Amino acid sequence: MNILAPSILSADFSKLHSEIQEIESLGANWLHVDVMDGHFVPNMTIGPVVVEALRSKTKSVLDCHLMVNEPEKMIPWFAKAGADYITVHLEAIQDPRAVIHAIKKLGIKAGLSVKPKTRVEDLEPFLAELDLVLVMSVEPGFGGQGFMAEQLKKVEWLAAQKTKMNYSYLIEIDGGINASTIGAARAAGTEVFVAGSAVFGAKDRKAAYQQLMNAIHP
Ligand code: DX5
Ligand code: ZN
Repeated sequence: MNILAPSILSADFSKLHSEIQEIESLGANWLHVDVMDGHFVPNMTIGPVVVEALRSKTKSVLDCHLMVNEPEKMIPWFAKAGADYITVHLEAIQDPRAVIHAIKKLGIKAGLSVKPKTRVEDLEPFLAELDLVLVMSVEPGFGGQGFMAEQLKKVEWLAAQKTKMNYSYLIEIDGGINASTIGAARAAGTEVFVAGSAVFGAKDRKAAYQQLMNAIHP
């Protein structure tokens, strides 16, 4: 059931289609799409027009991670563009329950994410309704940062809650996942592993992809 979700943030945007084809030929069927607005994080990246273009070329799960302020108004844009999962940040919204319902009403799977300094327990009231919970293991904004191992405590807590309460959300981790860190993330209970630079930035992408896959399906 464990999933590797290559983050296209580290792909070559001048040839995104062939980048995706290459990674899919290695077996990827999830693509992690980092949406940044220059306000919630100090970087700007992908908008709904790119998601729509991707949708026309791939059947992979489009896992859209919205690092934006006021994501409420953008949810319909990404739904229309063809997102499969829309994850928003707890820090960016006032009424998480309303946002989850807005996403689900559009037929999209709903996720919530917490930044490294946010308590995971703050998600507790919403866990029953979530399809995915995303633990940030770097400060959101850029690929290629170092893994914050202490964030794995959040994964452990989410895994324990999931078992205890029979919740159905997937536990995803994002930031600094590579061959040296993925094992610990798996041991903590992660189910979806986002990897940007470790996949797209690798000299030998096939070998890198296979090494990460072996680590999550031992
Ligand atoms: C960071 C993004 C990540 C990023 C991860 O803000 O949310 O998805 O692409 O990149 P790596 O795997 O290089 O840390
Ligand atoms: Zn991300």
